[in-house]
Amino acid sequence: MRYKVFMQHFSLCSPKNRLILAPMQGLCDAPMRDLLTRIGGYDECVSEFVRITHTLHSRATWLRHIPEIAQNNQTFAGVYCVSQLLGSDEKMMLQNALRLVKLGVRKIDLNFGCPAPTVNKHQGGAVLLKTPERVYQIVKTLRNGLPEQIVLTAKMRLGFDNTDLCLANAQAIANGGAAALTVHARTKVQGYEPPAHWEWLKIIREAVDIDVIANGDVFCLQDYIAIVEQSGCRDVMIGRGAVMRPDLARQIKQYLNGQTVQAADFNEVLDWIRLFFTLCCEKENHHRYAIARLKQWLGMMKNVYPEVIRLFADIRTLKESDEIERVLQQF
Ligand SMILES: Cc1cc2nc3c(=O)[nH]c(=O)nc-3n(C[C@H](O)[C@H](O)[C@H](O)COP(=O)(O)O)c2cc1C
Repeated sequence: MRYKVFMQHFSLCSPKNRLILAPMQGLCDAPMRDLLTRIGGYDECVSEFVRITHTLHSRATWLRHIPEIAQNNQTFAGVYCVSQLLGSDEKMMLQNALRLVKLGVRKIDLNFGCPAPTVNKHQGGAVLLKTPERVYQIVKTLRNGLPEQIVLTAKMRLGFDNTDLCLANAQAIANGGAAALTVHARTKVQGYEPPAHWEWLKIIREAVDIDVIANGDVFCLQDYIAIVEQSGCRDVMIGRGAVMRPDLARQIKQYLNGQTVQAADFNEVLDWIRLFFTLCCEKENHHRYAIARLKQWLGMMKNVYPEVIRLFADIRTLKESDEIERVLQQF
């Protein structure tokens, strides 16, 4: 019954309810974006943040951070990858953004949510939420300096240590000229502590006239239904849940399309694990990176797929990629 009411609500909304794969530094790198967008359900993904300080990044640096730029900004599956910038010097951010435009980038996102102390110490990320006028200045400078056809968006948390400036920041982003705003429904101080405060998403959505993309704690289909119901947002961004349950977006799209929701079985998951390891090995020729990424991912999937517990135990102490490949093939 609850589902039925929800579907009626959806039919009143835009026909397209977009799912966006979240930017996640050190977790959703190019191989992970490649894999998850192949599995399906995502309409767009966002790169890990690229920090802008005093330098103009070279083409090689950009491609190292966001290899999709060299493939018309798309992942292997053809999903657009937005380039995310983090910084506080709006002039340098604009210079770098203009370089991205020269490289063919069409969509740029600004990070106002990163909680990392090093980043915040240099006045980047969530610390900017203490000064909405700085947020406005950054968005406005980029919007004014970029060609009109370049889509500029932003991502924020509810605030730094409280929500007092939440609406001021959202309005600063909208008035600065961003086309859409993703909100991770927590303050910086709340870190990742549950629950995410989805009630704020509705308040923000009603306070600005740009699209608000809901984000925070969508780990399963039911969470997706609940965040959309509570926020009234059409578009949802998924982060950790996308990594823990690689077919989450596919399940959501099946649901939205009125199809039977079919969660992946472990054989399919195992194929994805093998592919991910291959993609990581191809990315870096030192295999320590691939092994670390694989172990990190398996550690996150253990709670969803019980079989992963045994697989993780089998590879936990292995240090050579060919040993790991053998285990993955024989498992
Ligand atoms: C490991 C990790 C790295 C992250 N890196 C970024 C980042 O580079 N840029 C950004 O805007 N948000 C970043 N985030 C925040 C996520 O995009 C997202 O807002 C947050 O995880 C909440 O969504 P979720 O509950 O679906 O994971 C990161 C989160 C995690 C867990």
